Amino acid sequence: MNNKYLLEISNLSKYYTIENNSKIEIIKNLNFKLKHNKKVSIVGPSGSGKTTFLNIIGLLDSEFDGNFYFNNKNISLCTKDETNKIRGLSIGFIHQFFHLIPELNVIENVMLPLLINKDEQKSYEISQKLLVEFGLNERIKYKPLKLSGGEQQRVAIARSLVNNPDLILADEMTGNLDEDTANNIFKFFINYIEQTKKTLVYVTHNKSYSLLADEIYYFKNKKNTFNK
Ligand SMILES: Nc1ncnc2c1ncn2[C@@H]1O[C@H](COP(=O)(O)OP(=O)(O)OP(=O)(O)O)[C@@H](O)[C@H]1O
Ligand SMILES: [Mg+2]
Repeated sequence: MNNKYLLEISNLSKYYTIENNSKIEIIKNLNFKLKHNKKVSIVGPSGSGKTTFLNIIGLLDSEFDGNFYFNNKNISLCTKDETNKIRGLSIGFIHQFFHLIPELNVIENVMLPLLINKDEQKSYEISQKLLVEFGLNERIKYKPLKLSGGEQQRVAIARSLVNNPDLILADEMTGNLDEDTANNIFKFFINYIEQTKKTLVYVTHNKSYSLLADEIYYFKNKKNTFNK
């Protein structure tokens, strides 16, 4: 196994079981390699399996066939505890609908991933530093629903980065923002990723955003249904 790849995936297939015990095939024999410090975009029609794929590489879904190495670790051989640990330490997620916890204020939301390994004071300091960089210092005590969509997404981006993960996964992260806000956020985000030399996989329906990647993967709608 070559150390330069953060992700090495071969012959990945994924199907869901639907009614009558028939299977619907979403991903078939996918090969995917990702080096450190690279950006990959994933584009394709609705239902083509983009989120399904992010869930697999984000270690949220272990029900797949094929070979998957994350940082040289064979994920198929990992226990649930091991994959949870890798995910918590090494992967940051950004979603279309922000997924912030409404009861917690901005800085508490950002601190959450840190509290597993660090004390509260340290977690607060690291989170505050990042929120200052993200132009959100004035907002740290706000509850998320008091913020604009763009601000909420900046909080969610800060939360995904606070643990200094190896891999960032973004699923249509600007899909819920108006065009100007989306452009501003995406530009800011990509700059940050490049400056901090993070590895990024992002799903987007926006062609100009997808072109900023080092490599583009095109997902097609296949939806083969079969009985197994
Ligand atoms: N738990 C599930 N059980 C059965 N089918 C599922 C399940 N989750 C997703 N699917 C199906 O798998 C297909 C791929 O879904 P997925 O969410 O990965 O698509 P996507 O490419 O992210 O689409 P979009 O661009 O709309 O977000 C869809 O047809 C969806 O209905
Ligand atoms: Mg999706």
